[in-house]
Amino acid sequence: MNETIEVIKRRRSIRRFKPEQIRDSDLQEILESALLAPNARNQQKWHFTVIQNEEVLNKMASIMKENMLNSEIEFLAERAKDPEFNPFGNAPTVVLITADKTTRFAEIDCALAAENILIAAESLGLGSHIMTSTEFLFTTEKGKELKKELGVPEGYEHVCVIALGYKDENLPAKPRRKDVINYIR
Ligand SMILES: Cc1cc2nc3c(=O)[nH]c(=O)nc-3n(C[C@H](O)[C@H](O)[C@H](O)COP(=O)(O)O)c2cc1C
Repeated sequence: MNETIEVIKRRRSIRRFKPEQIRDSDLQEILESALLAPNARNQQKWHFTVIQNEEVLNKMASIMKENMLNSEIEFLAERAKDPEFNPFGNAPTVVLITADKTTRFAEIDCALAAENILIAAESLGLGSHIMTSTEFLFTTEKGKELKKELGVPEGYEHVCVIALGYKDENLPAKPRRKDVINYIR
């Protein structure tokens, strides 16, 4: 099978990672792949914060859990009650993608960059997990301080988070609907 398509078909959302840090050369390839994503009018109003500091990762996980518990969204609150739950699956690397959302299509640009990250990671033998429930990260005062600490550019907002690392689980593909394609031939 074509190698690119094989990698696309192999990718899964990984929610459990091994503690070993990923190679920096792999991280650089992944980030370069992100920056090469197509984006509207090549405006590149996106930003990537790479977090590998354990203390900061733990702080993010704890703020996120606290905010999930207080979200009043039942399934998120239930998940956060589990003391074993880590929103990033204990991934050693987390990439926060933010954007200037006043720029038209910036979120689509970020989604394309995110997919490049997921596919590049898979091609390098790494697992990944994109998530948006991380929007709860910055909703409280503590979260706003965290955003500053992370150096998110002024005016940029959360789009998604991607956890990256060596996989600690092996999952079958989740089923996909087949009734979503219409051919006009
Ligand atoms: C925009 C977006 C947001 C997502 N947010 C979350 C999330 O907050 N938490 C989570 O566990 N998974 C999240 N996911 C992962 C999806 O649940 C996952 O992609 C889907 O179930 C299909 O599984 P697969 O990625 O293994 O093919 C998100 C995926 C996308 C594309």
